[in-house]
Amino acid sequence: MKPSVVLVTGGGGFIGSHTVVALQERGHRVVVVDDHSTSSPIALDRVAAITGIAPALYSLDLNDRPALDRVFAAHPIDAVIHFAARKAVGESTEIPLEYFDVNIGGTASLLRVMDVHGIDRLVFSSSCSIYGDGAPDSIPLTETAPARPTNPYAWSKWVCEQMIDQACTLHPRLRAISLRYFNPIGAHPSGLLGEDPLGEPRNLMPYLMQVVTGRRAELTVYGQDYPTSDGSAVRDYIHVSDVAEGHLAALDHIDDVPGHRVVNLGTGQGTSVLALRAAAARATGHPISYRVADQRPGDVAALVADASKAHRDWGWQPRHDLIDMCRDAWKFTRMNPHGYVR
Ligand SMILES: NC(=O)c1ccc[n+]([C@@H]2O[C@H](COP(=O)([O-])OP(=O)(O)OC[C@H]3O[C@@H](n4cnc5c(N)ncnc54)[C@H](O)[C@@H]3O)[C@@H](O)[C@H]2O)c1
Repeated sequence: MKPSVVLVTGGGGFIGSHTVVALQERGHRVVVVDDHSTSSPIALDRVAAITGIAPALYSLDLNDRPALDRVFAAHPIDAVIHFAARKAVGESTEIPLEYFDVNIGGTASLLRVMDVHGIDRLVFSSSCSIYGDGAPDSIPLTETAPARPTNPYAWSKWVCEQMIDQACTLHPRLRAISLRYFNPIGAHPSGLLGEDPLGEPRNLMPYLMQVVTGRRAELTVYGQDYPTSDGSAVRDYIHVSDVAEGHLAALDHIDDVPGHRVVNLGTGQGTSVLALRAAAARATGHPISYRVADQRPGDVAALVADASKAHRDWGWQPRHDLIDMCRDAWKFTRMNPHGYVR
């Protein structure tokens, strides 16, 4: 897509901030909407330090439709990338209504305002968790694998995909791509941007890093009785910079065909929790102790992508391996041992 104005919801978050960097480096002008409920505004200062450009920032909740409407009225927006959501599987089983409100309500609000302003390009952050506990023989998972959400988070993403699909049917001018990310980890190679969750990390890599720096005593491995090679859950880890580039590829090709498309972003490589722990220990030079606990409700044994569609249709492919992911996460942690200082 030629340089354009792109509105990014959740642009202050982990994947959003890396994508804002990639967009600005490609010449796009970026408008960020973020309520900073799960991120620090400092991430956007770091985006400005890397790119030399401060994106326009509106600190608001997506469910505040009048405020969102004013943002759309103030900028000639060409496309929207929608990251803003709650994203933790375990937490979603504890507070499902919050997940429905933010993820489903926020997406409905955004679609309404886009419709009012005639904005017809949308890239949506979806998730491999939609596939749920698919039959092991369907791994690697293609986009045609059946959706079997096993927790409120995954279900909320599935509902959002369905809403976007329906909106595209009702409004044929709307073009939308749902990117089903597998497990983004790593950090910007500068060490300025990375994953900095509020409170106790619910994702594996920041937890591993906090054990290395002594902020956490040990890693808890949830389940060592899965039907995998070492009994721990297997995921497809992908460098966050590759995920960010996937959004640029999606924007470049959003006008190729009408309607709603679903595309996986993963590497096709499965790595177990214990194998990632070992890789992180090698990258950091620190042992990482762990204990085993019961499986978490809603978790599944293995999720590994067949990412050939993004490569076939867009020429996109991941450039980074697990060593890069651990190295960059560690660089961010070393440079920001307490995260972004809030
Ligand atoms: N990180 C992963 O492992 C992963 C995997 C698959 C899909 N995803 C999806 O990618 C997207 C981004 O994930 P992330 O890892 O960057 O998460 P994140 O928590 O770092 O970023 C989410 C951002 O959205 C903002 N936000 C949340 N609710 C909002 C609201 N109501 N209004 C405005 N802003 C709001 C937060 O403040 C934060 O800046 C999410 O939609 C998530 O579901 C993430």
